Amino acid sequence: MKIVIANESHIKYAQVISDTITESAKVRGTGIARRTPEYIIKRLENGNAIIALDGDKFAGFCYIEVWGHKKFVANSGLIVHPDYRKQGLAKKIKKAIFDLSRKKFPDAKIFGITTGLAVMKMNYELGYKPVTFSELTDDPEFWKGCQTCKNFDVLTRTDHKMCLCTGMLYDPNDKTKIQKSKGPGKSIKSLKNIKTNLFSKKDKK
Ligand SMILES: CC(C)(COP(=O)(O)OP(=O)(O)OC[C@H]1O[C@@H](n2cnc3c(N)ncnc32)[C@H](O)[C@@H]1OP(=O)(O)O)[C@@H](O)C(=O)NCCC(=O)NCCS
Repeated sequence: MKIVIANESHIKYAQVISDTITESAKVRGTGIARRTPEYIIKRLENGNAIIALDGDKFAGFCYIEVWGHKKFVANSGLIVHPDYRKQGLAKKIKKAIFDLSRKKFPDAKIFGITTGLAVMKMNYELGYKPVTFSELTDDPEFWKGCQTCKNFDVLTRTDHKMCLCTGMLYDPNDKTKIQKSKGPGKSIKSLKNIKTNLFSKKDKK
């Protein structure tokens, strides 16, 4: 398995990356923003993405986006092809995109939003903390990226203050980083459950 910084030679994988994200969004049902091949191509070309390949086969992908005049970068769009899941690949891609973010944007806060427990666990192990959306970028372009998520109405209804996703932030200047542990255990799981219950009750009303 090769895990490398993407470049123009990987444009041919844009369609399969886009399709894999769309399929996973359908299967999971909890909300993942869709990404068109054109959108993916831009991320493959600009040196801010990581791609994992098994020979010629697409295995995984993640990209960096820069917000608020480089004060924030987001690690977004993490996807592992179903054939390669549960083998530790997402963890390796997450680490690679985190290291690339730290190298290229050493002063930026790194953040992500997710409904996925796996992603929360990985972020936590890298030193991210759960935060409210008020701690994340207020760049409207970032939040526009949520428009293709099935929960976008929740985000709009709450005036962009909260949604089913949990915001997680790595602050390079935070001296009180959570001691890295082998998983966040119950706290992250409880947070995720509380949010899911809260919003699903509201949606049923
Ligand atoms: C989420 C996803 C990226 C995980 O990829 P993966 O390669 O299977 O993950 P890994 O094998 O590296 O596992 C990383 C950690 O997450 C855990 N994990 C993996 N899938 C999980 C799941 N569905 N639920 C809970 N935990 C999970 C693993 O046990 C591991 O934790 P550990 O180190 O404590 O054992 C992959 O399932 C995927 O692409 N899903 C669809 C897209 C998606 O949800 N993207 C995130 C959008 S925010």
